[in-house]
Amino acid sequence: LRKDNSMYLDRVIGHRGCAGLAPENSEAALRLAASLGVKAVEVDVALTREGMLPIFHDNSLSRCTNGRGSIRDADWNYLAALDNGSWFDRRFAGSRILQLDQLLALTTELGLMLNLELKVHDTEAEALASAVAERMEKRDEKNDNGLVVSSFSHAALEAYHRLQPRHAIGYLFEGIPSDWQSLAESVGAATIHADASRITEADVARVKTQGYPLFLYTLNQRRQFDRWITAGVDGVFTDYPDRFLGREH
Ligand code: G3P
Ligand code: MG
Repeated sequence: LRKDNSMYLDRVIGHRGCAGLAPENSEAALRLAASLGVKAVEVDVALTREGMLPIFHDNSLSRCTNGRGSIRDADWNYLAALDNGSWFDRRFAGSRILQLDQLLALTTELGLMLNLELKVHDTEAEALASAVAERMEKRDEKNDNGLVVSSFSHAALEAYHRLQPRHAIGYLFEGIPSDWQSLAESVGAATIHADASRITEADVARVKTQGYPLFLYTLNQRRQFDRWITAGVDGVFTDYPDRFLGREH
């Protein structure tokens, strides 16, 4: 199963949509990525204390919105009124934080493959996995274009795999530890994701020899892209997918 890479993501994956070109994790970023010809995107999903599933990277609201405080503690009325576009560029004023439901409708509409990263900000790994797994049960699979659920949190991956064993799991590492394969196997991981700045070509070989697709974050320079693709990496997360499209082969 895991040896067929074509069923997982793509060589060029829009990071947080396309975070260098439009506000990260926003509808505008997904629409722009799709219009550029991107086939796969990565976004982050979090869980608020009241059980909402916003598409958002940080726990703090201050970098990417006009709000304050943590997303964990915010209520939905507050989040729904925030502007998550103006900080990036005034052209995106009025952009709103997406919820998982809206994100899924959007990726279906745009025909995008999706890497959904479970972002654990506190101790909510199981609750986040279970809220996402429950929502994913209802999604329209016949319109689905490919899905990988990833996380740095072992507990979140373990819980998600137990609840949705048919969905592909991506194990997110920074560097690749010596026990990477037993960690991956224990959550049924199909793909390995790692930080390009913390690995070597030897690490790529270790993972590829075992037959796992390997995806690296976050690459924005063409020479890095060429280096890692030549080394055998299956795909990269980039904030600027426009720089790599057309150089995939
Ligand atoms: O999923 C790849 C990458 O997004 C992981 O790190 O911090 O950008 O979510 P981060
Ligand atoms: Mg991410």
